[in-house]
Amino acid sequence: MNRVRLAWLRQSRTEYMAASLVAEMTHWLVVLGVGPDLLVRATRVVSDEVRHATICRELYLHAGGAPEPIALEPKRLSHADDLGAPVHLRAITAAAELACEESVALTVFRMRLENATDPVAREVCTVILRDEATHRAFAWELLDELIRMQGVDAVRAWARPRIAFWLRIYLRAKLGEHEPVYPPKVLGYGLVDRRQHWTAMRATVEDDVIPRFQERGLLEFTATGATLLQEL
Ligand SMILES: [Fe+2]
Ligand SMILES: [Fe+2]
Repeated sequence: MNRVRLAWLRQSRTEYMAASLVAEMTHWLVVLGVGPDLLVRATRVVSDEVRHATICRELYLHAGGAPEPIALEPKRLSHADDLGAPVHLRAITAAAELACEESVALTVFRMRLENATDPVAREVCTVILRDEATHRAFAWELLDELIRMQGVDAVRAWARPRIAFWLRIYLRAKLGEHEPVYPPKVLGYGLVDRRQHWTAMRATVEDDVIPRFQERGLLEFTATGATLLQEL
């Protein structure tokens, strides 16, 4: 499969997975009695992610993809972390992981939109970029609410040993000396060169995600991407 089709097929699958994970988390938030404003916003994230999955598939079809439904990976449609833990703790993990992912997604979609020249790709990237900004705000505000409900010490005791794991994909990313560089036509479909992509994700973790954990008292101010990597 060519790079453009593969990228948007995978993105469609990722968006659907996000819908499923946030839907599961939303039920936990209802059980925990989180306030109505955040509950409604959680359901909006679910519907946004379903729409993202749909428009990414449309872009995949626009790029010549096969019309059959996109196969999903059932294992990745539910939260797999800390399966036996009580719901109030699993909700912290789900909120924090969402906060990490939405923060990074915002950076990536900003770059995708910069590169996109194809009109369908531009439209898809514009919609997703706008929504991910609201999702990022939601995720960090939800984490704040869980801190308010459970106390910062309890949340820190749960979160601190897990932060490196939540960021593992970005911390472990290794780039080769010769990463593929895409021609303008491929970039025009909203793709980003691999080196640029991973460098920007790592920078987002250092400059945005780690400071947000630190400001909330969940991570010491001496922590960096490098020190967290040593914990993995
Ligand atoms: Fe999304
Ligand atoms: Fe999102």
